[in-house]
Amino acid sequence: MHSLDAFAQEKLDALDRRHLRRSLTETFREDGIWVDRNGRRLLSFSCNDYLNLTQHPAVKRAAAEALAKYGAGSGASRLVTGNHPLYAALEARLAALKQAEAAVVFGSGYLANAGIIPVLIGADGLVVIDELAHACLYAGAQLSRGKVLTFRHNDVVHARELLETHRAAHDRALIVTDGVFSMDGDLAPLDELHTLGEAHDAWLMSDDAHGLGVVGGGRGSSFSGNAHIPVPLQMGTLSKAIGAYGGYLCASAPVIELMRNRARTLVYSTGLPPAIIAGAIAALDVIAREPDYAALPVKKARTFTQAVGLPDAESPIVPILIGAEEDALAASAMLADEGFLAAAIRPPTVPAGTARLRLTFTAQHPDDEIARLAGLVRERILS
Ligand SMILES: Cc1ncc(COP(=O)(O)O)c(C=O)c1O
Repeated sequence: MHSLDAFAQEKLDALDRRHLRRSLTETFREDGIWVDRNGRRLLSFSCNDYLNLTQHPAVKRAAAEALAKYGAGSGASRLVTGNHPLYAALEARLAALKQAEAAVVFGSGYLANAGIIPVLIGADGLVVIDELAHACLYAGAQLSRGKVLTFRHNDVVHARELLETHRAAHDRALIVTDGVFSMDGDLAPLDELHTLGEAHDAWLMSDDAHGLGVVGGGRGSSFSGNAHIPVPLQMGTLSKAIGAYGGYLCASAPVIELMRNRARTLVYSTGLPPAIIAGAIAALDVIAREPDYAALPVKKARTFTQAVGLPDAESPIVPILIGAEEDALAASAMLADEGFLAAAIRPPTVPAGTARLRLTFTAQHPDDEIARLAGLVRERILS
């Protein structure tokens, strides 16, 4: 075992030297926005709970009732005995929201992406993927064993060039992108990518982890302009604005049926706890009932970007680009001293040289605190 420990220690030392070592910090979330960390009470701008629904009374009640009624876990994979009837209700809700024929819910967003792509693309296939797409889309692309080509961020011309050059040599092709980019907060040009996909028989898959509930009137990024963009593979997660857990794909009925049969992360993984599914359904109810509330995170993010003098936020995510890892850590520490939790995001989560603070705005952030944060960012980070 000596070589094993030595290997681990060497890797950790190398991370330390590059300011890339991470640690798990115990965080107690008091409510939707306040956290206790290292004995300090901080206002969090680092949670993806955009609508604070993790704490919503109706969501908690639905989860608690399901927990009491059905127990803590699901006991087996969905294809064995873990397919609780609540799944059908949740999937029908998601499909209706996304104007798709059908939906399938996975154990998490990561599991969804790792499972979906290899069902559609094999060793002779092609995946054309945005360079800033989320790590789990890359994981799915690599698991497919197909050829993976990266296009420059949001650069449809580059994606077209790649397809023109490589599409013919592959049996099937997928264009893959985040709908809302998780570390940058910008939106993908889904309408242009959809047109490109149609022209080259390349299926478009968007990951709307950060769009569901908060952009496009709560329906997500393919609904964010005036028109609905018919993205054939709409993936997302229930762990952000929905405040619960689990991932999903909305698509045509045959595609969803194929996923239920072939997606290994669905077939060989235990179903979600019923309480989580019940919580997610209750959260979707809140979003449907209260569209003005669902619009607040982007509104608050815009208040911030306007106060700081940054381009208008397109989503609840606002990156403050800093560059060097240690500078990003120092900026995060400065804000913590002022009572704010703003996590530093470093490579490999973001490209080298682009360490940043990733700020996330939620419906319940008080305006005066947003103004105070904006003042600190403007005067002590960006000046
Ligand atoms: C764009 C994107 N896709 C997928 C995921 C993974 O989702 P989950 O946390 O449900 O596994 C995340 C979350 O980290 C994400 O930001």
